[in-house]
Amino acid sequence: MKTILVTGGTGYIGSHTTVELQNAGYKVVIVDNLSNSYPEVIDNIEAISGIRPSFEKIDLIDQQATFGVFEKYPEIEAIIHFAALKAVGESVNMPLDYYKNNLNSLIHVLDAMRKFKVKHIVFSSSCTVYGEPDSLPVNEQAPIKKANSPYGNTKQICEEILQDFRTPHPDINVIALRYFNPIGAHPSALIGELPIGIPNNLIPFITQTAIGIREELKVFGDNYNTADGSAVRDYINVVDLARAHVIAIERLVSKKNKEGFEVFNLGTGKGNSVLEIINTFEKVSGSKLNYKIVGRREGDVEQVYADTKFANDELGWKAEKGIEDTLLSAWKWEQNIKTLKFSDKS
Ligand code: NAD
Ligand code: WQD
Repeated sequence: MKTILVTGGTGYIGSHTTVELQNAGYKVVIVDNLSNSYPEVIDNIEAISGIRPSFEKIDLIDQQATFGVFEKYPEIEAIIHFAALKAVGESVNMPLDYYKNNLNSLIHVLDAMRKFKVKHIVFSSSCTVYGEPDSLPVNEQAPIKKANSPYGNTKQICEEILQDFRTPHPDINVIALRYFNPIGAHPSALIGELPIGIPNNLIPFITQTAIGIREELKVFGDNYNTADGSAVRDYINVVDLARAHVIAIERLVSKKNKEGFEVFNLGTGKGNSVLEIINTFEKVSGSKLNYKIVGRREGDVEQVYADTKFANDELGWKAEKGIEDTLLSAWKWEQNIKTLKFSDKS
């Protein structure tokens, strides 16, 4: 049984990926400092998969502690590096925290790979690297645009660090996965997105409004050059996304990768506008959403959705879940949160 280190594994995408890795027969070691997640997620992962992942509460900014994980688990064969701070707006106000956390975490993980001879890493990148794309759907060859936030810049710099690291270490294999907009939750409704404080992202804001935690959803802009005037994104189901990580890991450990550094878009290939999402949510949840149109949010792009051909052809991966199923899973999760116990973070 191969062992995979999942950094940020109690987080939103990391928890779903841990379940899929365990379902596929991998042993998972999670490292997380719990800055944006809860220790109870481990119990919920176990409730779904029947297997409790190993867990180390470690801050990857601490190099010695990071090395300690590799000393404790010499069987680690590959890493999926999710751990990062990810709030775009917050990163504008706290740029140093974002650079310090996101860059040092990766650097310490790479240093450990060198020292402990781990050869494979999957890195969580983002469609944010494309900015406002020149043409749609956007493929992996599209130019990287100047980042419009320190968060986005950390993703660009991390991809560069990974490439530079391979120059003296060509035996290290990297897959960078550029996620579009991950949404939804595990069908069990035992794990999902758990924003701390006011959500920045559309779907948790919608579900929190529908359940009465937020009074009103603000739709940021209805004067974009799109069919209904609201902005368009490629919303990808988080379980579909998690499955792609298992395939990426299999590709690396079975040496099926064609290049030492590969990049894949992970999206559905289809764009949905904010208003379409609201309408679909109202339909699947049977609830009316209180929303109002306001001005555009600074830094938002008009529309972005993925060209998924490379991931479809090379990984043999395709998003399977439709938007209705996915929004329903988000709604079931929101309704189930109150039945679950999470430590107080307020
Ligand atoms: P998340 O915040 O739910 O999970 C990240 C986890 O990393 C959290 O549990 C947090 O506690 C942990 N963490 C952060 N810094 C750490 C550190 N220094 N040491 C140890 N643990 C640390 O976020 P997510 O949505 O699951 O995102 C996972 C990854 O995917 C991130 O790298 C994010 O930038 C990237 N990504 C996310 C999205 C999205 O919309 N969710 C889109 C594109 C890319
Ligand atoms: C989606 C759409 C908003 C909230 C972000 C990051 C990106 C990536 C994915 C990490 C936009 C609109 C939102 C609200 C709204 N993350 N909206 N009212 O901005 O596409 O992408 O998450 O890498 O880097 O920027 O996602 O969910 O915030 O917004 O109208 O209250 O919903 O304007 O059009 P976004 P989002």
